Order: sequence, then structure tokens, then C-alpha cells
Amino acid sequence: MNPLKRSWTRKPPMTKLNSLVIICPFLLANILLFAQTQPSNLASNPVFQKSCAKCHGKTADGRFMGGPSLVSTRATSASADDLRNIITNGKGRMPKYAGKLSPEEIDTLVQQIKVQQIKVQQIKSMTRK
Ligand code: HEC
Repeated sequence: MNPLKRSWTRKPPMTKLNSLVIICPFLLANILLFAQTQPSNLASNPVFQKSCAKCHGKTADGRFMGGPSLVSTRATSASADDLRNIITNGKGRMPKYAGKLSPEEIDTLVQQIKVQQIKVQQIKSMTRK
């Protein structure tokens, strides 16, 4: 076989590899983005599932005779400070979590509730006529 011809036939796989090298950073960015958005989801936070889901529901949309929805317009109007205060010190039948959860864990919950609220607002503004 002609070695020159052989090197020619090898060229296509090379360009395939090149395009893979170009695509890879995008794939990686997507995976990183996915990994980043995962923990920001209230319902997928193990702390929420362990401490809050029994009253506020597994998807945080509230439970009949239990805790109110954390994605409601009412919770939407609460500031991050208010939310932190409610979780730390309790409110009505809601137990306080000072000492049970670390300030970091409470902060994560507050941020995740805020993110949920932003999502609800976005969906509402999208469906508004
Ligand atoms: C024992 C049931 C119970 C548990 C457990 C519980 N909550 Fe609540 N939660 C409630 C009730 C009841 C209210 C309503 C309090 C009121 O307004 O009197 C409430 C209110 C709230 C509010 C204010 C919502 C609003 O619309 O004003 C937030 C925020 C909240 N809870 C977050 C959490 C988080 C985060 C956890 C877990 C760390 C949690 N709750 C655990 C029962 C519970």
C-alpha cells in the first residue's frame, strides 16, 4: 500500500478529534452549570427534605393543614432577612431552627427559597397576557 495514500485516509479521524476538542469546553460548561444549579434547588436540598418537607411539602409548595407554600406570592414578598428570621426564630406553629441548623445551612435555604420565588415570578410574567 502507498504510505502517502494511507496518511490521507487518516485525515478525517483527525478532524473529528479536532471538532471534539472544540465541543468539549461547551459540554464541560454545561455540566458545570448543571452541577451549580442542582444544589440551588430547594426541593433537592437534603436539609430541606429532612427538616422542612414534612410541613412544607416535598416540592415546597405547601401542605394542607401544614406549612404554607414557600413558592407563594406571600413568601415572595418576604425579604431574605425576613426569611432568615422566620427560619432561625420560628413563627406561629413553625419551629425555630437556631441551634438545629448552622447559619450556613439556613442561608442556603433562604437563597433557595429566593431562587424559587424568582422562578415563580418568571413563570407568572411569562403566562401573563
Ligand atoms: C412543624 C411544621 C414546620 C416545619 C418542620 C417547618 N415549617 Fe416553616 N412554617 C410552618 C408554619 C405552620 C408556617 C406559618 C407560620 C405562620 O405564619 O404563623 C411556616 C412558615 C414558614 C415561612 C414563612 C412563609 C410565609 O409565607 O410567611 C418560611 C420561609 C418557612 N416556614 C421556612 C421553613 C424552612 C426553611 C423549614 C426547614 C428548616 C421549615 N419552614 C420547617 C411549619 C413548619
